[in-house]
Amino acid sequence: MSVLSGKKILLGITAGIAAYKTASLVRLLIKLDAEVQVIMTPASKDFITPLTLSTLSKRQVHSTFYNKEEENEVWNNHVELGLWADYFLIAPATANTLSKMANGVCDNLLLATYLSAKCPVYFAPAMDLDMYKHTSTLDNLSKLQEYSNVMIPATSGELASGLVGEGRMAEPKDIITFIESDILSKLPLKQKKVLITAGPTYEAIDPVRFIGNHSSGKMGFALAKEAANLGAEVILISGPSHQQIKHSLIHRIDVTTAQEMYQEAHKHFDKVDIAILSAAVADYKPKNVASQKIKKKDATLTIELAPTKDILASLGAIKKHQFLVGFALETNNEVENAQRKLKRKNLDVIVLNSLQDKGAGFATNTNKITIIDKYFSQKLFELKSKDEVAKDIMNEIIVKLDA
Ligand code: CTP
Repeated sequence: MSVLSGKKILLGITAGIAAYKTASLVRLLIKLDAEVQVIMTPASKDFITPLTLSTLSKRQVHSTFYNKEEENEVWNNHVELGLWADYFLIAPATANTLSKMANGVCDNLLLATYLSAKCPVYFAPAMDLDMYKHTSTLDNLSKLQEYSNVMIPATSGELASGLVGEGRMAEPKDIITFIESDILSKLPLKQKKVLITAGPTYEAIDPVRFIGNHSSGKMGFALAKEAANLGAEVILISGPSHQQIKHSLIHRIDVTTAQEMYQEAHKHFDKVDIAILSAAVADYKPKNVASQKIKKKDATLTIELAPTKDILASLGAIKKHQFLVGFALETNNEVENAQRKLKRKNLDVIVLNSLQDKGAGFATNTNKITIIDKYFSQKLFELKSKDEVAKDIMNEIIVKLDA
């Protein structure tokens, strides 16, 4: 899966002949599952039509501050466009646009959006070789890079003028590879290994029955996805769960019982930097597992239970460099209980869910959490989707890792 998958990309097109290549650039981005919004400078429409680009991007293309053609003239808000984007790519970037960008000129929608964008900006210069070498262009290129914009260097080859040299816009597939590897190299969890436990555990009573719980595994799987999206290599140890996950950085290990989860967690704990134990592990298991199906009798049935091993506490007892995160699902005296759990299990952070909060806990798509650290400082979050909650948790971990 590409790091650009699911990302919102603003593609700014300026008036160079290489603009014709943006049709395939948009197509490649869409194929990677990115959302693409195209903004064009008015002059670039001489090189490629907005209709081509809107058809490929499946969105209306903007080139002016308002759309005169529409019945009620619609204002194209450059601030909103800039805030919408995860990444802004300006390709081709002509000498003229680069010069304006370097000097804060904003006489068209693309430039105004550039000035208001908060996301990372990539630009792919395209011009004739002498323009590319000109001192003023070189000054503008270095100024733009000093301003934290990322340049996708032009390549050498035959230019539209017939001259041969540097100034050709990088090919669309190379632009994408460049951006993907740049994003990967800057991910905050790059080269970190994260262990995550998820889902319930099933403790056998006999060959056909078990003791389990309603955990869906959604929270743990959302955490695994988010950690991998942030560049981490993830070992996801999951109890029985219907959740699906596919990511080149996630190694999923399926287990059934608390004992199997314990063994897998201990097998990998040494080599991880962060461990997040979100599984709803059964606290008890049948003391003896019947080898044959237990037959129905008239009398009541008593099953003797024995405690399972507390995986989280056992990792807390041996942890060295690892950043250890546990979960606490509480119904009363929530903060106090969670703080006690944090201390007792030697955690760095505990994520508290209260069953008193509607929409929190098991088998829902949402969660409402409080994150408590080892100094007992608390951070409360709103009710959010589990994907959003996973983002909040990973962000907090990153902040605390760097602190
Ligand atoms: N946990 C674990 N192994 C167990 C039980 C729990 O790793 N055998 C982990 C869970 O994954 C969670 C945390 O411990 O991160 C809290 O589990 P919870 O059941 O809420 O806490 P307990 O310590 O079991 O306390 P209690 O049930 O009394 O609240």
